[in-house]
Parts: sequence; structure tokens; C-alpha cells
Amino acid sequence: MARKLRIPTGPYSRHILLCADQSKPKCAPRDVTLPAWKLLKGRLDDLGLSRGNGCVFRSKVNCLRVCANGPIAVVYPDGTWYHSASGDVLARIITEHLRDGNPVEEYIFARNPLPDAASDCDS
Ligand code: FES
Repeated sequence: MARKLRIPTGPYSRHILLCADQSKPKCAPRDVTLPAWKLLKGRLDDLGLSRGNGCVFRSKVNCLRVCANGPIAVVYPDGTWYHSASGDVLARIITEHLRDGNPVEEYIFARNPLPDAASDCDS
């Protein structure tokens, strides 16, 4: 029998994917990406953003296919791509973008927002 699947955190407002603990570390070494992942998890917990309505879903990914100036991170649904996402930069992304909704402009290198799902249903 198939197991019932569900999102572990509940309804969330944003999803951040961070390139960390890669099998082939190209954008940044593991000794940078692993502390970045720990920082992301800890700060989201500290800010109360890990659970409940409006929380932030986080995923550690092996490679986001950018492979330079990392750690690379991308935030959805707005599709905001960040370089150098570790330490103080990542801390700013967490508080200013993930918590307050204000992207950290100086570290953004691309934007590709998801299409509006509601408008897709109308067509
Ligand atoms: S190794 Fe980080 S984006 Fe490819």
C-alpha cells in the first residue's frame, strides 16, 4: 500500500533551495556550504519560520547548475537567484527576504518567477 505523502512543514510562503554538501563542490567548497546549510536551518528555527502557516520550506540540493560564486541559492515562488549565499549574506537573505519579503538586491544575479498559477487556470 502506498504511503500517504505530505509536505512536512505545512502551508509555506516561500521555498529556498541551497546548494550545499555537494558530491562535486564547484560553486563553493563544502567547508563553506555545510555551515551555510546549518545557518539556514538554525535561523529559520530561531525566527519561528520552520513550521506553521506562512513558514519557509528549505531544501539542500546537490547542484543548481550555476557552479560559480556560491553557495548558490534560489527562492520561490519569486524565482530570485543569489550568489555568495553564506555567512552574513545568507543571514541577510533570511531576515530581509524570507522573513520580511525584501530581496537583497546586491547579491541577486537572476530572476525567473514562477507563472501565476491562478492565471494559468483561467486560460
Ligand atoms: S555545485 Fe553549486 S551550483 Fe553547481
